[in-house]
Amino acid sequence: MKKRVTKAIFPVAGLGTRFLPATKSVPKEIMTLVDRPLIQYAIDEARAAGIKEFIFVTSRGKSALEDYFDIAPHLENELRKKDKTELLDVLKSTNMDSGAIAYIRQQRALGLGHAVWCARRLVHNEPFAVILPDDVIAAEKPCLQQMVEAYEETGGSMVAAMEVPADKASSYGVIDIKEDFGSMVSVKGLVEKPTPEEAPSNLAVIGRYILSPKIMQNLNKMKTGSGGEVQLTDAIDAELKNDRDVFGYRFRGQRFDCGSKAGFLQATVAFGLAREELKDEFGSYLSELMAMQQAAQ
Ligand code: UTP
Repeated sequence: MKKRVTKAIFPVAGLGTRFLPATKSVPKEIMTLVDRPLIQYAIDEARAAGIKEFIFVTSRGKSALEDYFDIAPHLENELRKKDKTELLDVLKSTNMDSGAIAYIRQQRALGLGHAVWCARRLVHNEPFAVILPDDVIAAEKPCLQQMVEAYEETGGSMVAAMEVPADKASSYGVIDIKEDFGSMVSVKGLVEKPTPEEAPSNLAVIGRYILSPKIMQNLNKMKTGSGGEVQLTDAIDAELKNDRDVFGYRFRGQRFDCGSKAGFLQATVAFGLAREELKDEFGSYLSELMAMQQAAQ
């Protein structure tokens, strides 16, 4: 019988250099999309998918992230005194069950594969999810939930997949497709950041995974790959060499690369416009701005 996926790893030990100087003191995952830090979107998505244990792989300078998940007694008291029940509810929605979060340090940023491997003792022999919080996905049904439902049928390992323009494929792990079933493909191979000539397709892997615990054994033996880092893509590709199944899942939703400045700004606009209390004011501002820009051309 397939085991249920109840654990998720959140690798948040990267340096976030694309957001310097902000990330000198603020972890990227705490940066705010409208009014919530990126990590909150990732946690909400994991919860919707049935995740019960949240494993953060952190590094130096990420204490703001740990504090974010602590209760805030002083703030709560002040809000209670002022009868601000709505704000109290907002705070409560960020509370995590005692013992549901674990923090593991990745002492050196040796790559995503290495970050995941750092959590191996907490994963034991169970399938687990990996969520990269800087990939934010707007979807009617949260992306990881879609994947968990598909995984219940397939088992093996599964990566979230998305078509990208051919000239962008070299920024991603790219899928060599064995068979295409529409919303799902079976995978023949995975190539991390291929050159345009090497890219086997334009179906790219983005930051959601459901992985077999065998991946940890593959990572045990891993050497550094593309960019001098230990690549998670290579460890998943090694599953195929061992004749174990890997699937790519074409999720329904829009993914924003909040690890890049342009992606973060796009997400800010999209999520701002999707908020009931903001859409009128923010929407008319954007229309005025567009009109002014067109008039200036
Ligand atoms: P990125 O490739 O976006 O790297 O990592 P980064 O360091 O966060 O950001 P830049 O490129 O310097 O701006 C993708 C995800 O993998 C995690 C990151 O925290 C991010 O969630 N990661 C990456 C680790 O946890 N450890 C690593 O060694 C590398």
